[in-house]
Amino acid sequence: MSQQGITDELVFFVNGHKVREQNADPELMLLPYLRKTLKLTGTKYGCGGGGCGSCTVMISKYNAQEKKILHFSVNACLTPLCMLHGAAVTTVEGIGSTRTSIHPVQEYIAKTHGSQCGFCTPGMVMSMYTLLRNNPTPSMAQLQQCLAGNLCRCTGYRPIVDAFRTFCTASNCCQRRDPEESCHLGKAEQDGILAESKDSDQFQVCSQLFKTDDLLPLDETQELIFPPELMLMEERREKRTFVFRGERMMWIVPANLEELLELKSQYPKAPLLVGNTNIGPNMKFKGAFHPMIIHPANVSELHSIQFTEEGGRREIHLDENFFVGFGKTSLRPEELLLSVFIPFSRKWQFVLAFRQASRRENAFSIVNAGMQVVFKDETNVVADLRMFFGGVGPTTVYAKRCSKELTNRSWDENLLSQACELLLDDISLPDSAPGGCVKFRRTLTISFFYKFYLQVWQRLQQLLGKEDPFGVNIPERFRSATIPFSIKLPQGFQRFQKVVLDQFSWDALGQPVMHLSAIKHATGEAVYCDDIPSQEGELFLALVTSTRAHAKIVSIDASEALHLPGVFDIITTQDIPGKKIGMEEILCGSEVTCVGHMICGIVADSQLHAKMAAAAVKITYEDLEPLVLTLEDAIQHKSFYDHFKLENGDVDAAFEKADQQLEGEIHIGGQEHFYMETHSVLVIPKSEDGEIEIVCSTQYPTFAQTVVADTLGIPSNRVTVRVKRIGGAFGGKIVKASRIAAIAAVAAHKTGRSVRCILERGEDMLISGGRHPVLGRYKIGYMTDGRIIAAEVTCYANGGNKVDFSLMVIQEIVSNLDSGYYIPHVCLTGFVCKTNLPSNTAFRGFGQPQAIAITESWITDVATKCGLSAEKVREINLYRGQEACTPYKHIFDSRNQLTCWNECLQMASYHNRKISVEEFNNLNRWKKRGISIVPLRKGVGFSESALNQAGALLHVYEDGSVLLTHGGTEMGQGLHTKILQVASHELQIPMSAIHLSETSTGMVPNTSPTAASSGTDLNGMAVKDACQTLLQRLQPFMHENPKGTWKDWVEEAFKNKVSLSTTGFFKGEDIVMDWEKGEGTTASYFVFGAACSEVEIDCLTGDHKNIRTDIVIDAGCSINPAVDIGQIEGAFTQGLGLFTMEELKYSPKGVLYTRGPTQYKIPAVCDIPEQLNVSLLPRSQNPKAIYSSKGISEAAVLAGCSVFYAIKDAIAAARREIGLTGSFTLNSPSTPAQIRMACIDQFTEMVPDCVPESTPWAIVV
Ligand SMILES: Cc1cc2nc3c(=O)[nH]c(=O)nc-3n(C[C@H](O)[C@H](O)[C@H](O)COP(=O)(O)OP(=O)(O)OC[C@H]3O[C@@H](n4cnc5c(N)ncnc54)[C@H](O)[C@@H]3O)c2cc1C
Ligand code: FES
Ligand code: FES
Repeated sequence: MSQQGITDELVFFVNGHKVREQNADPELMLLPYLRKTLKLTGTKYGCGGGGCGSCTVMISKYNAQEKKILHFSVNACLTPLCMLHGAAVTTVEGIGSTRTSIHPVQEYIAKTHGSQCGFCTPGMVMSMYTLLRNNPTPSMAQLQQCLAGNLCRCTGYRPIVDAFRTFCTASNCCQRRDPEESCHLGKAEQDGILAESKDSDQFQVCSQLFKTDDLLPLDETQELIFPPELMLMEERREKRTFVFRGERMMWIVPANLEELLELKSQYPKAPLLVGNTNIGPNMKFKGAFHPMIIHPANVSELHSIQFTEEGGRREIHLDENFFVGFGKTSLRPEELLLSVFIPFSRKWQFVLAFRQASRRENAFSIVNAGMQVVFKDETNVVADLRMFFGGVGPTTVYAKRCSKELTNRSWDENLLSQACELLLDDISLPDSAPGGCVKFRRTLTISFFYKFYLQVWQRLQQLLGKEDPFGVNIPERFRSATIPFSIKLPQGFQRFQKVVLDQFSWDALGQPVMHLSAIKHATGEAVYCDDIPSQEGELFLALVTSTRAHAKIVSIDASEALHLPGVFDIITTQDIPGKKIGMEEILCGSEVTCVGHMICGIVADSQLHAKMAAAAVKITYEDLEPLVLTLEDAIQHKSFYDHFKLENGDVDAAFEKADQQLEGEIHIGGQEHFYMETHSVLVIPKSEDGEIEIVCSTQYPTFAQTVVADTLGIPSNRVTVRVKRIGGAFGGKIVKASRIAAIAAVAAHKTGRSVRCILERGEDMLISGGRHPVLGRYKIGYMTDGRIIAAEVTCYANGGNKVDFSLMVIQEIVSNLDSGYYIPHVCLTGFVCKTNLPSNTAFRGFGQPQAIAITESWITDVATKCGLSAEKVREINLYRGQEACTPYKHIFDSRNQLTCWNECLQMASYHNRKISVEEFNNLNRWKKRGISIVPLRKGVGFSESALNQAGALLHVYEDGSVLLTHGGTEMGQGLHTKILQVASHELQIPMSAIHLSETSTGMVPNTSPTAASSGTDLNGMAVKDACQTLLQRLQPFMHENPKGTWKDWVEEAFKNKVSLSTTGFFKGEDIVMDWEKGEGTTASYFVFGAACSEVEIDCLTGDHKNIRTDIVIDAGCSINPAVDIGQIEGAFTQGLGLFTMEELKYSPKGVLYTRGPTQYKIPAVCDIPEQLNVSLLPRSQNPKAIYSSKGISEAAVLAGCSVFYAIKDAIAAARREIGLTGSFTLNSPSTPAQIRMACIDQFTEMVPDCVPESTPWAIVV
């Protein structure tokens, strides 16, 4: 068999259309092929590594032997094009569109508000679509499995699950939305939740966010059929080898096993590629390269399951000798794995497996174990014991000594304690072991053994039919250790105030209107920056970033890079014609101050060529001192940008007067924005007058315009920045977006070509910074009845290498350390630390999530010391009354805070459930539950007063249609939807008559960032102003013809030469804070709320399950309850991630390890509380914002801390088991490692601490 010269034609179908590729490149994945070659941009790039599901498409294949069509959902980013020979690909465009008809899956996700930014939506749709193609009435378990690999950063998943649940057979919800009939509400009423909803005729409470009546049923007959041509092709397929050849790689599909074996002996180094989920990421992220790939798709022996008595041709055991190194097995290079033989277990043999991961689904395990024991017949004497552990070394580790020495021993307490000692000897991890968490991982090994021990006892009991076989009695309280968590998909109710009466039928103000772009999100028609077709001669910009945290750049050598194919030029700081430094240095010139510092860029004719050339740029460095990475480093070196202090009352005197004092601290880790669309920009230089057009995923187009103009040295009037929509931002697309736009603009200026720059997920995470890690140290003076009278709190925020928004963030932290509590005497200080990390920036909540976590830490400590429940201490200290006063003497009406608190207590049935939690804890030793309710208070508005302004532009055309623009950007938060509701209400015309195309600096100048929850407050008012001006102009014609239509009045106005174009402007409130005096205001108004969460933890593994969360938020009079509730659920989920699972890991040299969804876990559908209830406080008014609404898109991030403190409550119950009743430190996020190590017991005590001098794998920054 020779592969010389031949190249087969690759034939497959996409959405029913035949594709023939003469030169299919084995290096090319399906995703770029769909997006760039076929211009099918509905399928999105989110991570490129199989970790997010944004690129999900369906692949269908015909099995000629079984005469069956099989459908699979795959990640297009990891599917090599060559794998598709004979397959049919269906993308989101193929199942429905607004031009033809939309598919029920698309319709449901849109209409149930399951789409916000819409970037994940096509992937969600295609996962569900594939499930339905295989099974039109799937079970809830299948739905859960189907969504496990799809991440959404916006919605919190509940509405997506609600959309898709409708297709399921035995849904755990009735799906009836009528408040009288819904099972949520039936249950809710039993719990006393809705007791109040009926008491008032003035305020009707509603819970119907969407109507199911008008949703189309699934009709299988309407689906795309599998192409008959492909069936014929499969039937007639010759049994021969197929070869596809690319620039650097060859792809061979052997005809049968013999040929495969022959190939393997000829090319022993060529890997077998099956799913490409291992080879693909290794090639993409680790630089592995294989000149030849063997794809054994046609080797039937590798695709079947058989029940036989024997294994393959050479049988090797899956024992301690199987793995010979990291990712290496004892298979010889020329061998292949033909079959896996799994023997049935025998009587008296017990085999169990254990794993703990950082997320329950779609995550590699931290430690896993496989254990088996065989007993001598009818006894508890061990005949054979084998235990293998993963995650504790480069290969699977066999606990040899332990397994051997315990043979012939009785399965009892003595064996247990000796097993733990021997295991710890067998499995020794150095303190600096890759993966970190050494003590936790060692503890897990013995905790797993304990679970094994207990489960084996249970099975022995079952086998022998005796309660206490061999005289060993396992207490009932211990048994829950053996039951794994089961997870149900989230459900819950959403409650809001119905709008009042005298509205026109088309007036949507206050109605749960669907997101304007939702259908387009679901069909893949919504256009994001990278979906814009290539411009003539367009170049791609790839960035070169620093690999050192603090160093002098000695030289930049791009000679090799510039000779690579397709490379156009290098862009360095010398190429910048204007200002080289804006808010930050645009490109680093001489000294790098973090890993990921942008140094230069390479422009080439394609992304692949630009990336390859960027990797070939050689930079030499000279390391500089000091290296300041952690908050402790910064404190030690006094490396601060600035600090702010607030004092009120007399703290020293209050400490004297206090009954007791306590001290403590908490560290809150940082957070990655993880917007699904990475930073994206397209710069199009114009041929005249130095004009330049920029399409950019920025929340602050004006800033991008200013930075680009400054960098190019041209006036702002030559730069137009346009934003149609952004695939999520959360504060992360303000500063860095502008800098990336500026670098791309310099490249466009230098080359005279259009330049596109789309960051890869890993680059984005490395470069962009995120939420500030914060250390809070406190001293509290309190009375024994729980009243807190003095608080001295000092916070340190890790700002990174540039100041960015850090000063404003620390001001927010300091001014919110009172959270919802009145503490008469305070001294609150905050430092911004300058470190050698990428600069941290704005992130939803803007410091306030860290502030609440610190405050609730000392509240919990006071409760513990006083022997009171935490909610009692909270209640005692809550602000009260109409004239509450903050430490900076801002007077506010706090009454809604108390109302939210009381509503939440009632809605959550807090007191009853607290008793149930205690009962559960008394009955269970190794599983504990915890419950916590916290008050929420979030300031709204920019503390930088000048930003509280907005503009709008309104054009009315002769036909009566309206084109509206304003200064805010749409990033999934439903701003444009709300704005159209405002305009429709003001102009008294339906929303469908008004169009909002995009945000552009050319239409509305000098805009503020869309941030600080103020998008609707500011832009809504500007739009209202524009509408009112226009209405005034139409007034005479309306007066003259009162029965006329909008179109009549517009026509009349036109004929009378009245301008039908107007601007609107809003001058927002002056928010002034005098930090010298410590007086003023930091926000326009407060959003209040309360959140109650219940969790269950596994004390032995640190795993936890979110059982239920109830959130009450004072959203004022909501303009769109569906959007507001969506924001609350999404923000809560982000807070849940922040406080319980999202962990950034840095090396001791400042390199970020967590650069993608594989290493960094954001909440997935399995992490959402099984019951998530949200209620908007009725009867709330807010004179400070449009139509008495409130900006609520950030407040619920704070609610995530209710889960954190519920976990702490559960841990406290575990600690009480061994007599530890005092307060203790729990740092955020409460990962399995944090939880396990805080649940001190006999196992944690057996594991020695790491040596303090040892260099850990990862550091806490
Ligand atoms: C997002 C994501 C999440 C993941 N999560 C997990 C997880 O939770 N747990 C986990 O264990 N893994 C996980 N993985 C890793 C991966 O899915 C598994 O390793 C998977 O089993 C690889 O299968 P594949 O067919 O895709 O491998 P491929 O990449 O196609 O091949 C893998 C290797 O197997 C070799 N090979 C294939 N067939 C044979 C054969 N017959 N004989 C000899 N060698 C052969 C190939 O040469 C290659 O070296 C994850 C991967 C991704 C991308
Ligand atoms: S899974 Fe393919 S882009 Fe994330
Ligand atoms: S809507 Fe899911 S990521 Fe934005």
